[in-house]
Amino acid sequence: MNHVKLSLPECRFLLHLQKGIGITKGTSKSGCFLSDKPVNCNYLGLKVRILPSVLDSIKVKGVFFKNRFVMPPMQGDHATVEGGVTEKLITFYEKRAEALGLIIVEHSYVNLHGQLSKRQLGIYDDHLVAGLKELVKRIQPFNTRIVLQLNHAGAKAPSRLGIESVAPSAKEKARELRVDEIEMLPYTFGRAAERAMQAGFDGVEIHGAHGFLLNQFYSPITNHRQDEYGGGLDNRIRLPLAVVREVKKKMGTRLLLYRLGSVDLALMGTQIEDSQYFGKALVNAGIDILDVSGGLCGAVPDELKGKEGFFIPQAEAIKAHVDVPVIGVGGVKTPQFADRIIREGQIDFIAVGRSLRKDADWALKAIKYLKA
Ligand SMILES: Cc1cc2nc3c(=O)[nH]c(=O)nc-3n(C[C@H](O)[C@H](O)[C@H](O)COP(=O)(O)O)c2cc1C
Repeated sequence: MNHVKLSLPECRFLLHLQKGIGITKGTSKSGCFLSDKPVNCNYLGLKVRILPSVLDSIKVKGVFFKNRFVMPPMQGDHATVEGGVTEKLITFYEKRAEALGLIIVEHSYVNLHGQLSKRQLGIYDDHLVAGLKELVKRIQPFNTRIVLQLNHAGAKAPSRLGIESVAPSAKEKARELRVDEIEMLPYTFGRAAERAMQAGFDGVEIHGAHGFLLNQFYSPITNHRQDEYGGGLDNRIRLPLAVVREVKKKMGTRLLLYRLGSVDLALMGTQIEDSQYFGKALVNAGIDILDVSGGLCGAVPDELKGKEGFFIPQAEAIKAHVDVPVIGVGGVKTPQFADRIIREGQIDFIAVGRSLRKDADWALKAIKYLKA
């Protein structure tokens, strides 16, 4: 079937004619159709495919997002030395919340071995729940969904914090994890997720990207184990999947996201085909939304710097293999670009990190621009 993709003015024109061509979905704030999925219809004999814009709402497993702008997790080092929420941390999110469909709160460490920096946010103990509850409470009035990213830094945890670093395979100062310790990790992530649920988050995101512990298991560059947690791809994703299954048990109707380090950008590292396979396995294990970023190469690799949407091709390649919504990210600077990516219909959400960090009103201005 041939489909014609419509621009915003064309959508508006169609709306004038909607009775005539039998479109009954109604309009959204952007003037396009309120629909989670592309709408197919017949217009003057053409098969017309009307795609949602970045301003259109979306529901995922019954959870409502007012638009498709996402603030990706960005560590601000504004927590207390114990990992507790501070007023400065809350204000950072509060100032940006109004215009966003989803905020993914920066990575919080699930146990003391997994801490990356001194003032990183933590979720390793029950006493941290009260502060996180206050953060959620302050964001809720904006009708913006808020999820918390859970992380273990693995070999990246600096031993200068006085705690031994651990990793799938020994590396510099990091000690190789024993099997009994690996088997405890799903429980550790699960407890952290329970705390996030107590705090009232709409969900959690498991951090599986940027060279942290779960990514270290996934990548053949950092995982040299000879047991069931190393070697072939199925073994290397065994721990991440076990973590997902355990966390899923704690989520009830709330959402479970996974930040997938899609490519290491290295010859011997993970490739997009591995991540297409892994993405499908993550969905089978219970992931509701996949958030696609870089692997061992990090979140902003030198070789991709300056290219608007630098990890979106990987997000699109994975989306083609899964039936859950996908978030794309990487150097998004302009509302036009964000909107075009969503309208092309390959991915479902667009994350804007540093642009929002620099300018708290970036998304408000983007919405104003797109509505004009
Ligand atoms: C200061 C800073 C802190 C970040 N912290 C995290 C983090 O906690 N978890 C994470 O998954 N990504 C983190 N990232 C990566 C961002 O989520 C995002 O993927 C990256 O900045 C690329 O998007 P952008 O080009 O829109 O900024 C961080 C990025 C920056 C700049």
